Amino acid sequence: MNRDETQRLCTLGDIPDGGARGFTLERPAGPSLRVLAVRRGDAVHAYLNRCPHRGTPLDWRPDDFLDREGRHIVCATHGAIFRVEDGVCLAGPCQGDQLTPLPLERRGEELRAPLDPED
Ligand code: FES
Repeated sequence: MNRDETQRLCTLGDIPDGGARGFTLERPAGPSLRVLAVRRGDAVHAYLNRCPHRGTPLDWRPDDFLDREGRHIVCATHGAIFRVEDGVCLAGPCQGDQLTPLPLERRGEELRAPLDPED
């Protein structure tokens, strides 16, 4: 028997096209994890909601992860900016570091995340 190693994150339609949303992932063991997902059409890029500089959440209010033009992910604490496609920090105190990617599995419209992304 195959054990499902994933959990439901959301559907594609739950993330506005060109926008971002934050989610909380429950883990089988350990505290829940905050994550974010950015949608570009059919593509979704997801990361742990944790800045590589100080480990703080990136959003300054719920679901507010992007710059005004919606081009980059921005850290609310010190303003580091991250490329949406790979999470690399382009400017700021952690330039060259990277957000921790959250691999997603697509099942139809449903997006699924690992049961424990930090395993
Ligand atoms: S905590 Fe994100 S740039 Fe400092």
